[in-house]
Amino acid sequence: MGGGIAQVVAASGRRVSLHDAAPGAVERGLETMRKSLTRLADKGGADPDEVLARVAPAEEIVAADLMIEAVVEDAQVKEAIFRAADAVFPPEAILASNTSSIPITSLAAATGRPDRVIGMHFFNPVPVLKLVEVIRGLDTSDETAAAITTLAVDLGKTPAEARDFPGFVSNRILMPFINEAAYALLEGVAEAEAIDTIATLGFAHPMGPLALADLIGLDTCVAIMEVLHQGLGDPKYAPCPLLRQYVQAGRLGRKSGRGFYTY
Ligand code: CAA
Repeated sequence: MGGGIAQVVAASGRRVSLHDAAPGAVERGLETMRKSLTRLADKGGADPDEVLARVAPAEEIVAADLMIEAVVEDAQVKEAIFRAADAVFPPEAILASNTSSIPITSLAAATGRPDRVIGMHFFNPVPVLKLVEVIRGLDTSDETAAAITTLAVDLGKTPAEARDFPGFVSNRILMPFINEAAYALLEGVAEAEAIDTIATLGFAHPMGPLALADLIGLDTCVAIMEVLHQGLGDPKYAPCPLLRQYVQAGRLGRKSGRGFYTY
């Protein structure tokens, strides 16, 4: 998602530094961006070379006006990044997280600027989906929320504000849907293809819940459900055992080549 976010920000005319701790990840991100930009250019979008010229790979976290963090859904990893960015970014800079579920207030508490920390949650594939869920932490200022809302519009997205509750709005709705689909598969109610056909044709969803889980990443789905389960304290949010088992097996969805489906 980090690559997708970098792409839409660069396409809006801004310069972006792209940093990833994993070797080769930035290069893979740039390749994905080129493919996506080429598809968009065929439909009258910006020249891919021009957009990519505004994206600079960065060996470490470098100062800017805005950080949009999009690492793994692990509170400790994210907090460490917010702490590191707080030391490097100028005091007026905004530190945003693309988190799907980690409390913004706890990320803000890892910094000395809780008024300038906010959730800016994009949706996969970022260049296509129009929503940005904007999440204020306890101390996020009106100015920060206004700046991020304006930016989202400038990126061609539609912002919608949610409060800092587990899973915010998007995943509080989406994850129980995916989890229930996994239970339907586990309990033998239907095959994966039938479950997804029922959602695509029956509810006019662009893809079924199991294919969508593969797109999001099954490990990410389980991590989000753990946050919902712990944060809301209701057993109905516990991840389906089949999802956990797939993750244990390394079947993480599209990114590993196999999840509910094989890619
Ligand atoms: N970059 C640029 N363009 C892209 C693209 C990309 N990465 N992916 C798809 N497109 C374009 C295609 O070129 C195509 O354009 P045209 O209609 O102009 O030809 C259009 O999008 C549709 O793509 P496809 O024809 O290839 O395939 P599709 O119709 O099946 O659409 C999809 C693919 C956009 C992924 C669609 O299935 C979809 O919207 N799925 C639902 C995705 C969703 O729900 N995402 C949210 C996940 S939740 C999340 O991300 C957050 C979280 O916290 C977990």
